[in-house]
Amino acid sequence: MLLKKKLFIKSYGCQMNVYDSLRMTESLNNHGYEVTDTPDHADLILLNTCHIREKAAEKVYSELGRYKYLKALNPNLKIGVAGCVAQAEGEEIIKRQPLVDLVVGPQAYHRLPSMLEKTRQGVRSIDTEFPIEDKFEYLPRSPNPRKSPVAFLTAQEGCDKFCAFCVVPYTRGSEVSRSPKKLIEEAESLVSNGVVEITLLGQNVNAFKYMESGRTWSLFRLIKSLARIDGLKRIRFTTSHPNDMTEDLIKLFGDEEKLMPYLHLPIQSGSNSILRAMNRKHDTNKYLDIIERVRMVRSDIAISGDFIVGFPGEKESDFEATLDLCKKINYAQAYSFKYSARPGTPAYQMADVSEEVKSRRLYQLQDLLVKQQKAFQKKMVGRVYPILIEKKGKEPGQVVGRSPYLQPVFLNAPSEIIGEIINVKIKSCRTNSLEGVKN
Ligand code: SAH
Ligand code: SF4
Ligand code: F3S
Repeated sequence: MLLKKKLFIKSYGCQMNVYDSLRMTESLNNHGYEVTDTPDHADLILLNTCHIREKAAEKVYSELGRYKYLKALNPNLKIGVAGCVAQAEGEEIIKRQPLVDLVVGPQAYHRLPSMLEKTRQGVRSIDTEFPIEDKFEYLPRSPNPRKSPVAFLTAQEGCDKFCAFCVVPYTRGSEVSRSPKKLIEEAESLVSNGVVEITLLGQNVNAFKYMESGRTWSLFRLIKSLARIDGLKRIRFTTSHPNDMTEDLIKLFGDEEKLMPYLHLPIQSGSNSILRAMNRKHDTNKYLDIIERVRMVRSDIAISGDFIVGFPGEKESDFEATLDLCKKINYAQAYSFKYSARPGTPAYQMADVSEEVKSRRLYQLQDLLVKQQKAFQKKMVGRVYPILIEKKGKEPGQVVGRSPYLQPVFLNAPSEIIGEIINVKIKSCRTNSLEGVKN
């Protein structure tokens, strides 16, 4: 039997990269590679990278630098850069880091095996095209190799919104949705391999749109169809854009039991003039109205979001408007970032807010968001919730599950119950997690 080569693959950035990495792993598996969890003895190292903020992109270069000694030890070792840095920087990576053998953009992963073939002949290979064919049609489906009860499923990719600060429309390309028929088949296959919760992914997943036999599929219709799969117990979707939040999708939170009460709906800023400058194409009223309507149909829903502080031109009053908006919404959880100027985006040339001001604003905003998150979790203490047990915990005898609101829940229970949804009484909470006992 031929000995399999070793693949070390590392994902940065969003969940779509996690999903893509699994699909690439499966594809390379068919070409003689098996996964290893350390780079030390790898024959191929693949970094699936993120370009969203400067820090994320720079991380890649420092990681690559660390592999120099490995290449000295094993001259056959190949190093590849995939993902959004690959797409954005292409040739630059090869020039800047001589260790890199191949660079592959997010829409060309199905060409990875043939690229590897070239590198074996000593040719450094780059592919950052957006081919017309859909990579997922050519990549083997993942049969849930880690036997996890939860899985991601990319339904939509790319973005046509062009927010002034954001690289995604350039790194992932324009909005494309996958065939609902194929998605349903993939979901069925995941479920028959032990998956009970699926999170539909997309940079703008609620913009999902597909024409099939004369009918247009929306995210609403896709979720309704997936909900008919017997063994599938929970459905989630992320990330959504306020402008694509349709009435039927909002109502679904009240009507569809399998759709979990968690909505990640980024607004970025609470100031209308900053939203305009960001080219967000919605204002705060529209956002507040959506949240109100969602809460009308599902009062306990956990609202999550993303914020950027220090976008060019953000005044103190704009920032205060962001704090006010957060107070109105009362988030269950939210992410916030300092604005990072990204080459190639419209905001890149605009005058930046100083680093000190950005740091102070981020601190203030996070302080408020953490307080809101803690208050949300505290209300859960003493109550019983259905928890999907996902995996073993770090401590012996411990397992970790997910609440309907997506928080990790730790409890002592045998690992045989992984994959089950059980009632758990919440005993205590930390900022990002809960602890409970079987009820
Ligand atoms: N499609 C999603 C977000 C994708 S990027 C949406 O529209 O909401 C994830 C988050 O990264 C964004 O919501 C934003 O808050 C943050 N982000 C994007 N570009 C950024 C930049 N240049 N600087 C700082 N944060 C950024
Ligand atoms: Fe980026 Fe805006 Fe598209 Fe989200 S909607 S991916 S923030 S351009
Ligand atoms: Fe990062 Fe690309 Fe995702 S820039 S956030 S990996 S789409």
